[in-house]
Amino acid sequence: MRWTTAKIRQSFLDFFAERGHTIVPSASLIPKGDPTLLFVNAGMVQFKDYFLGLRTPPHVRVADVQKCLRISGKHNDLEAVGRDTYHHTFFEMLGNWSFGDYYKEEAIRWHWELITRVWEIDPKLLYATVHKDDKEAEDIWLKLGVLPPERILRFGDKDNFWEMGETGPCGPCSEISIDRGEAACSPEKNHAGEKCFVNVDGCERFIEMGNLVFIQYNRDASGKLNPLAKKHVDTGTGLERVTAAMQSIESGKILGNYEIDLFQTIIKKVEIVAKEVGNGSPYGKDPERDISYRAIADHARTMTFLIADGITPGNTDREYVLRRIIRRAARHGRYLGIHRPFLAAAHAGVVEAMGDAYPEIKKAAAKTAEVITQEESRFGETLDRGLELIDTELARIKKSGGHTLPGEVAFKLYDTYGFPLDLTEDVLRNHSIDVDVAGFNRLMDEQKERGRAARKDDAVAPEVSLGAGTASRFVGYHDYDGESEVLAAGGKDGDRVAVVVAETVFYPEGGGQVGDRGVIETASGALLEVTDTRKAEGSIVHIGRILRGDAADFARGARVKLKVDRLRRDAARLNHSATHILHYALRDVLGNSVHQAGSLVDPDKLRFDFAHQGPVKDDALATIEEEINARIRENAAVTVEEMAYDDALKAGALAFFGDKYGDRVRVVRMGDFSVELCGGTHISRTGDVGMFKLEAESGVAAGVRRIEAVTGQGALETIRKREKILEEIGAQLGARDGAAVDRLEKLLAREKELEKKLRAMEQKLATGAGGASAEENVQDVGGVKVVTRKLDGVDPRTMREMADRMRQKHASAVVALGSDLGEGKVALLVAVTPDLTSKIKAGDIIKNIAPIVGGTGGGRPDLAQAGGRDPSKLDEALAQIATLVASSS
Ligand code: ALA
Repeated sequence: MRWTTAKIRQSFLDFFAERGHTIVPSASLIPKGDPTLLFVNAGMVQFKDYFLGLRTPPHVRVADVQKCLRISGKHNDLEAVGRDTYHHTFFEMLGNWSFGDYYKEEAIRWHWELITRVWEIDPKLLYATVHKDDKEAEDIWLKLGVLPPERILRFGDKDNFWEMGETGPCGPCSEISIDRGEAACSPEKNHAGEKCFVNVDGCERFIEMGNLVFIQYNRDASGKLNPLAKKHVDTGTGLERVTAAMQSIESGKILGNYEIDLFQTIIKKVEIVAKEVGNGSPYGKDPERDISYRAIADHARTMTFLIADGITPGNTDREYVLRRIIRRAARHGRYLGIHRPFLAAAHAGVVEAMGDAYPEIKKAAAKTAEVITQEESRFGETLDRGLELIDTELARIKKSGGHTLPGEVAFKLYDTYGFPLDLTEDVLRNHSIDVDVAGFNRLMDEQKERGRAARKDDAVAPEVSLGAGTASRFVGYHDYDGESEVLAAGGKDGDRVAVVVAETVFYPEGGGQVGDRGVIETASGALLEVTDTRKAEGSIVHIGRILRGDAADFARGARVKLKVDRLRRDAARLNHSATHILHYALRDVLGNSVHQAGSLVDPDKLRFDFAHQGPVKDDALATIEEEINARIRENAAVTVEEMAYDDALKAGALAFFGDKYGDRVRVVRMGDFSVELCGGTHISRTGDVGMFKLEAESGVAAGVRRIEAVTGQGALETIRKREKILEEIGAQLGARDGAAVDRLEKLLAREKELEKKLRAMEQKLATGAGGASAEENVQDVGGVKVVTRKLDGVDPRTMREMADRMRQKHASAVVALGSDLGEGKVALLVAVTPDLTSKIKAGDIIKNIAPIVGGTGGGRPDLAQAGGRDPSKLDEALAQIATLVASSS
């Protein structure tokens, strides 16, 4: 396939990079500092403040691929997912932005170029829409002359005015749609007979290939549209639907979103599980099963990305959304006949399909699988019973001619069986039964009230109860000691205490640099050990433990002496300055498209994240390290100056994208090579860093790389440690340096050789070296031959080969193998010759004997396998087979 999803994603970024756009990483699904939003639901969310003029953007042209969730609030597609072929909760939005730079003309022209030249879509299939009052956009389309006037359509606010939410940036938009041909839609089914056309709800024939929003207003809380000082462009293109359109053209078949390569990779994994449990009907055969396949594939993406972004299942807000999604997916598994945890397999499909574009999900894969399986197992215990309760209730309601499930039952399902309300509603939707939501909510409220009463005397965390409106100042750029007065303090005796003073020499965590540690002593002699310093709502909070005296000594007005742990601060300062030199070197070697995406600076090491596509090559890394050390040896002066934010940008200072800066900013210069906005603490000459040693380069998210490094004494220690390891390896190998490498290569080659031989021997042994059956135990159970054999260290694959041979040899038999795999693991296999499968099913036998060895398993009537954890019970499990055969024949 030429136009894979991955290729389309990359071609979009390349196209806009060539047109002067800085490619930035997708923001996390969890919006930063925007309480109006549960999840990021559009590409523009992370740029909202630039549109509103609240912050000045460091780049005026930006493009990215944004992870989006439409599962709550104004944009919520959850209920439609699975039921049609094109709704998602999670999707990827391609976007390009102009912040007060280019406007309608370029936005339209470029998008048209992208679709028709890069993606090679025939203009004859395309339509454009504009807002009915947006004469400017219409004229641009007419002037471009690429579409006949009758295919430039005008619509009202509903279709061509885009708004982020109830309030916020908004404006008229222009969309491009593709006509996929009559076969793509059945009007009767999809939109109640209404004629297929652009903007007809539910029509799968006309698909939007991009939405270009011309942001020019801010809607305020009263609903009024206020014109913005500058005009901006905000575009959004759904990657999945564009891919479906393009892969349909390429394959000559009409494909829904879930039929593109990316989703099929996920669905295949689910099909395999379905097959294992005996219901192998794959995607595309049964419309009812397809709903479940699609919902599982969608939900698998949502859970994978939410967990990678730090959410775990829980009972409130985002955590509860994740829980609902996992539980809904588990329920769809039941509809496919899967009665055991299986979502980890779907998650593996997501990682396979998307891990290259989003390394964060690869990184989190092991943990994610664990979280998913745990949640699924927990719910699995009550899911079946809950579904039974629904069935009983359904029968009762239908019998009495009703249409509503009582609130008490929905609440019981929620409270006792863990059914989120929307899951219950989803199950009932198939039967056209509603839920008494008001009744459910009343019971929920009562339960919450009981919870509140019980929690009343819980302590409030000190750093939360403090700080609001209590302003304090950092005065420690050059000092480590100071004196001041306590403004506020909180916390309980003996517990963590938080103290705010008017002026502090303690650096609060910020700009990646860790907060200072040290001590604060009162005039009365009480002593606080400060273990962390943080900013909170305009004040600087020192958090720590009282070593002497008590909390009362730190009451408002108390005079205090402050002393920062100097060695620790100096080490952190060194690493902080080193990140600036690193930032410069990265841009010097890799180009100016590189910019900082985050950093962590502590006394022991530094970590620097930056936007860049693909891994940095080894030779580039070596050049970067060289360049940094050359700048350190240059011993350039480091100066700090305060100025207005706009002046700093004009002076070419690099601002950290996504950070909030005040009107006055600090500009840190190093020699003639680095100018950055920074509030952190720095050295006075670059030579103070001493040495810079790169430790690792890796990917952390789509388009974001991470460099980890050590400096100064830490760098020397790292090199020494490595030398020592090399020496030890050399000593073990009896060779040093180059010779050690040769020796190791030889050893590894020999090991491979030996492994091969070992495997050949194992196989020979396993296949009984030509049929010897000394260990076979053959019994006649009511006319059925039962052959069992216990094995030692034979792997499941070889067991299958063995079983095949044994079936051939015995012609009509039930064959069972149990193997002790070592390390407390066992494998079981049962095979039944075809003449017996109508009476005796391998899958049933394995289900009965697997628990004996502490495992679970299943499979087809002719072949089933299981794993377990108790080798001492293998004989017992194998012996049980005769009894099972006796009872089934
Ligand atoms: N913000 C616009 C959308 O989400 C582009 O469709």
